[in-house]
Amino acid sequence: MFNINTIDRFQQLETPFYYYDMGLLRQTLEACQSASAQYGFHVHYAMKANFNPKVLEAIQSYGFGADCVSGNEVKAAINHKFDRSKVVFAGVGKSDKEINAALDADIFCFNVESVQELIIINDLAKAKNKKANIAIRINPNVDAHTHHYITTGLEENKFGINIWQLNDVAETLRKCPSLQFVGIHFHIGSQITDLEVYRSLCIRINEMQDWFEDHGFQVKVLNTGGGLGVDYHHPDTNNIPDFEGYFKVFKDFLNVKPGQEVHFELGRALVAQCSALISRVLYVKNGLKKHFLVLDAGMTELIRPMLYQAYQKIENLSQNSKFEIQNTEEGSEKPPLITHSPLKYDVVGPICESTDCFQKDVELPESFRGDLFAIRTAGAYGEVMASGYNLRDRVQSVYSE
Ligand code: LLP
Repeated sequence: MFNINTIDRFQQLETPFYYYDMGLLRQTLEACQSASAQYGFHVHYAMKANFNPKVLEAIQSYGFGADCVSGNEVKAAINHKFDRSKVVFAGVGKSDKEINAALDADIFCFNVESVQELIIINDLAKAKNKKANIAIRINPNVDAHTHHYITTGLEENKFGINIWQLNDVAETLRKCPSLQFVGIHFHIGSQITDLEVYRSLCIRINEMQDWFEDHGFQVKVLNTGGGLGVDYHHPDTNNIPDFEGYFKVFKDFLNVKPGQEVHFELGRALVAQCSALISRVLYVKNGLKKHFLVLDAGMTELIRPMLYQAYQKIENLSQNSKFEIQNTEEGSEKPPLITHSPLKYDVVGPICESTDCFQKDVELPESFRGDLFAIRTAGAYGEVMASGYNLRDRVQSVYSE
C-alpha cells in the first residue's frame, strides 16, 4: 500500500488524513464481482461502511446496488447514480419523512423490521397511490461469533422480527394492499470470519422461505445481508477477502428455487483494506513504566479501537522506510546499519478522554516527534464515524490517484 514515493508525498501533507489506495479498492471490487457473478448473485454495497464520494463513484461504476439505512443514504445513492431498482432501505427506525422520500425515489425494496413499520409504510404508500416492495427482516437467532457490539441476529435484539412473530406478519401483510411482499432479509452481524456461521444462516433461510411459501407468499428475493470479515492483522498479505469461499457457501447450502434472486449487502469486505488513517507523532512521553506516543489523530477520526476494543494494525511509516532504505542499499553485504530496537508504546490520541487510545503496549521501532504513522484497515466504519467532538477539524481524504 505504501512505497517510498507515497511516504515522500505524505511528508508534504498536513495530517491527519485518510489515505485511499484506489487501485486496491478496484481489485477488491473486481474480485467480489467475479465471485458473485458466476452464481448470478446480486450485491448491494452497504453504504454505511463508507460514503466517501470517490469510493461511492468507484463502487457504482462496477454496477453494485446500494444498501441504505437512512433517507440521506438513499439520496446519496441516487445522486451517485446507483440504479434505483437496486437500492434497498433497511433500519429499525425509519421516519415518515425518510419513508416518503424512499417511496418518491421508487427504490427497489424496504427491509422491514417490525409489524408496526409494515402498517406505517402501507399507510404512506397508500397516500401516494403507490405500492411499496417490502422484504421482512427476520431475526434468525444464529450466533455470528463476533464482537457482541456488532452481533445483530440473536433474539432480544432491537433489529428484525422474531420467528414467533411471523403469524402476525402474515396477517398484517394480508391486510395491507399497498405493500408488495417480495422476500425475506437477514443480517446476523459484522466482521464474521468463520464461514460456518453462514452455513447455519443458509439452513435457517431455507426454513423461513418454506414457512412463507406454506402460508401463501411467493418468496422472490432471499437477502442474506452482509457481515463478511476482513483480516485486520495482515492488511498487506491478506488484503482481499475470500469472496470465492463466501459465495460458495451460499451456492452450496441455500435452497434457491427457479426464478428466485439471492441478494447480499456487503460493506466492510469491499472497503476496509483500501484505506489507512495517516497521522503524525506530536509528542513522545516517557512515564515511569510506560511510554506514550501522542498522535495528531484520535477517536474523533477513528473510533473503532475505542468503541469496540477493535484491533487495527499500527505502523511507524517513517522508521520502517528508513530501515528499508538502509538495508536494501545495493551491494551492501554488511549487516543492517539500522536495526529496529523495538519499544513498547501506548499509542494515544489528543482528545480529552482517557479512552482515546488506539492500542496499548504496541511494539514499534523507537519513535520520534514528526514520525508518520499509519493505522491500517480503516476504510470501513472509519471516516464515516468521525465526529466533531472537541471542535476538531473535519478529517481530510487523500487518494492514490
Ligand atoms: N446490512 C445490514 C442490515 C447492516 O446492518 C450492516 C451493518 C450491513 C449490511 C453491512 O455489514 P458489513 O458487511 O459491513 O459487516 N461500526 C461497526 C460495524 C457496524 C455494522 C452495522 N451494520 C464496526 O466498525 O465494526
